[in-house]
Amino acid sequence: MANKVVKATNEELQQVYNNIPKAYDRANRFISFNQDVRWRADLVKTILKFCERPKLVLDVAGGKGELSYTFKKIFKVNAKYEIILSDYAENMLKMALIEEDKVLCSFDALPFREKMFDVVMSSFALHAADNIEDVIREITRVSRKIVGFIAMGKPDSWIKRVYLSVYLRYIMPYIAALAGAKSRDFKYIYYIYERVPTNSFHKKIFEKYIDIKVYEERGLNLFYFVVGFPKG
Ligand SMILES: C[S@@+](CC[C@H](N)C(=O)[O-])C[C@H]1O[C@@H](n2cnc3c(N)ncnc32)[C@H](O)[C@@H]1O
Repeated sequence: MANKVVKATNEELQQVYNNIPKAYDRANRFISFNQDVRWRADLVKTILKFCERPKLVLDVAGGKGELSYTFKKIFKVNAKYEIILSDYAENMLKMALIEEDKVLCSFDALPFREKMFDVVMSSFALHAADNIEDVIREITRVSRKIVGFIAMGKPDSWIKRVYLSVYLRYIMPYIAALAGAKSRDFKYIYYIYERVPTNSFHKKIFEKYIDIKVYEERGLNLFYFVVGFPKG
């Protein structure tokens, strides 16, 4: 009988995220081909192009708050605004880079009322969703102006899919090891990649809930980058 990939459950992923806060910065670096910092900044700037004076911002699955931190570095204004950092891994929030309020919650059940935030944003996280549509429904529900996110998808081209599969399974964990990390800490990324749907599948869901203003695929189409207005 052929061996099949054993897929990680949601609970296992939560445990991974709780256990790897120190290592995962490097994980983002490896999977984004060293572009994660730049892409977060691009995301913030693109969001601000469509929403110039946000007052309340939500960072979804924000981890230690890298995206919020970037937002604060780029959006320096005299007017007051607030950022709320949310994540379901307590250890991530405990290590937060920003002082702002933190909320422990899962992105498929956000404990906020409709249209509460001007900006709802997320980076390098939505691919962990069991059901991406539940998450997109939630983030568009709590946003009243704009949503913007970047996360791992899967190329529609099978050649790129195979290439990335080999890279994430066999090469990236060992590059991580060479850089001093534990290779097993990075294997979960391959499992996530295996279970995420293709970019075209994602895009159909995005279009259902979002009036898309910017849609791009980056890093050999491993990532989708989306900014738009919530519909309805
Ligand atoms: C790779 S980190 C990204 C963190 C940060 N946004 C960044 O740009 O570096 C992924 C984060 O998603 C969080 N996460 C995964 N599944 C989640 C869920 N169901 N609800 C909330 N957070 C989740 C993890 O705890 C982790 O902090």
